[in-house]
Amino acid sequence: MDKRWEVLEDASAFLSSWLDGRKPIAGIILGSGLGQLAEQIEDPIIVPYVRIPGFPAATAIGHKGNFICGSMGGKCVIAMQGRYHYYEGYPMDTVVLPVRVMIMLGIKYLLVSNAAGAMNKDFHIGDLMLIRDHINLLPNPLIGPNLDRLGPRFPDMTCAYDTELQERMLSIAKRLGIPLQRGIYVSCTGPSYETPAEYEFYRRMGADEVGMSVTPEVIVARHAGIKVLGMSVITDVAHEAEDGYVTDENEIVKQADLASRKMTRLFSSFVSSLKFI
Ligand code: HPA
Repeated sequence: MDKRWEVLEDASAFLSSWLDGRKPIAGIILGSGLGQLAEQIEDPIIVPYVRIPGFPAATAIGHKGNFICGSMGGKCVIAMQGRYHYYEGYPMDTVVLPVRVMIMLGIKYLLVSNAAGAMNKDFHIGDLMLIRDHINLLPNPLIGPNLDRLGPRFPDMTCAYDTELQERMLSIAKRLGIPLQRGIYVSCTGPSYETPAEYEFYRRMGADEVGMSVTPEVIVARHAGIKVLGMSVITDVAHEAEDGYVTDENEIVKQADLASRKMTRLFSSFVSSLKFI
């Protein structure tokens, strides 16, 4: 048997024994900007990644890595508090492992959040962007023998971000009076931020924002037929050397925290509207 399949079966059996019969309808990746959402999950069961067979030990001290399963707006959800990034040196199979475990548990929807830098000149720091589509510049997580039980060898990516879910999120945002930008996300490896020339290259390529995650997780979700919704916080904007501005991690974390309240409101309202399909 494919070793990856064994890891997935062991990890999902372990997690499901913890969940005690709970059946999450949606998986939520709490990237920068959605940290607060964890506090809205009622009756939470928290399972640290390090306890799960096949999951690597956390690299950084203080770095959160937990599954949180509980109820939100009357719906059972499972959230990833922390994700594995390619730039941390993990192989792609590890980067997508938590998402695949949630898929094995039976989620129907994946809600993804992240922080990103904007190339679109109409975007500002603190804006939220609904992801319409992506350009994946990270290694494709489906490279290697196909896991046929999860999905096809050559999965379609035409509607990577579900159109109906986007419409629903737009109407929720309108109702709550929270402005939403829409655009295209490009992923790159990081961990260095972009040079001005790279930001310009990505802009001309057709992308509105850039980040270091999201696309691998979305690709494996679509491979398995899961419907995806993605949203980013714009934490910084493309700039020239003369602007006297530098991309700074602390500033990015600060901006993501500032936007957290409105993103959390949007997501909790969205989750309550979900139905099993
Ligand atoms: N580039 C890449 N990743 C990011 C950025 C950025 O400007 N901002 C937040 N994540």
